Amino acid sequence: MKIVVLAGGLSSERDVSILSGSKIAEALRSKGHKVVLLDVFMGYEEDVCDIDSLFENNYDFTKNAVIGTEAPDIEAVKKSRKNQSPVYFGDHVIEICQAADITFLGLHGGEGEDGSVQAALELFGIKYTGSDHLGSAIAMHKGITKGIFLNSDVPTPESRLYKRAFMSSGYLDNWDTFPCVVKPCSAGSSVGVQIVADREQFVAAVGAAFRYDDDVLVEEYIKGREFSVGVLGGKALPIIEIIPKDGWYDYKNKYQAGATLEICPAELDPVIAEKMQREAEHAFEVLRLKAYGRIDFLLDKHNDFFCLEANTLPGMTPMSLLPQEAAAAGIDYPDLCEKIIELSLKK
Ligand SMILES: Nc1ncnc2c1ncn2[C@@H]1O[C@H](COP(=O)(O)OP(=O)(O)O)[C@@H](O)[C@H]1O
Ligand SMILES: [Mg+2]
Repeated sequence: MKIVVLAGGLSSERDVSILSGSKIAEALRSKGHKVVLLDVFMGYEEDVCDIDSLFENNYDFTKNAVIGTEAPDIEAVKKSRKNQSPVYFGDHVIEICQAADITFLGLHGGEGEDGSVQAALELFGIKYTGSDHLGSAIAMHKGITKGIFLNSDVPTPESRLYKRAFMSSGYLDNWDTFPCVVKPCSAGSSVGVQIVADREQFVAAVGAAFRYDDDVLVEEYIKGREFSVGVLGGKALPIIEIIPKDGWYDYKNKYQAGATLEICPAELDPVIAEKMQREAEHAFEVLRLKAYGRIDFLLDKHNDFFCLEANTLPGMTPMSLLPQEAAAAGIDYPDLCEKIIELSLKK
């Protein structure tokens, strides 16, 4: 097949995406596909005389991608584009995707994960991997996700949604559970997430979260173990447990090699594991997700588990959580990438 892998973009998860994209491209090439790896925002800045030759030459915009300890400077990325147009898609991206059999979304966060890119590709007649624009938009917004979880009996921590537009003195007074967790609704990779101990910290944290987003979700803090469950074609993969060596699962602990122990299959009572897997499939379904995704959970000391959120474009390096879970189910990384394509073509 002729495949475009899109990576990069303008979200705080840009660097993670570039690493995922380059690994996906490498894996698909190992399966004999012709793969063009493009930065969705930078595009292909040269003249394109012959799109087919890009596939023949397995065009690749990056080699040896690395992830820093902090989220990248997006303003600097924007300034570095030759073409300073405000259009999200870089030069020739759409026409190159139109020449492919499918576009594999190696994007994470922002426009790549919130349904915008999905809607645009759909309108250009381009087939792409993963959930469609509506499922992506729903899952991207932690407040909207929460509403669906509550309506569908998916267990989830107590929470409230706060809107910047309503912020005034007394607006936050109805929250009185501490510690709690403050999250911008549409970020990811723990960017902007704060765990706070008391009211003073809470008020400051909500103010800070409004810098990222108009909508902020506050949740009761669940003390316990953390898990994630990949879903492939509607079926749960083996569960992975996440144990940061120091602190909680923040940006650094997510992406610095060795910072977090990841145990798959998780050591869990089989009855609880089974229930968590069924709940992951249920969450996947009620959020209207397609092809693949990953659902995050916390388990407290009473063995009650709580669903935090769904990731429609989870990390896709071979060491990322979902590929590790697939490996535990006997699906190696190149097969996983092909399986995602196969499921996405059937959508
Ligand atoms: N209610 C909560 N109680 C305890 N820890 C939480 C809670 N919500 C989030 N966290 C921690 O913050 C991390 C990021 O939160 P999450 O909702 O998964 O957002 P994202 O991964 O999109 O940034 C989680 O992996 C977990 O470690
Ligand atoms: Mg998460």
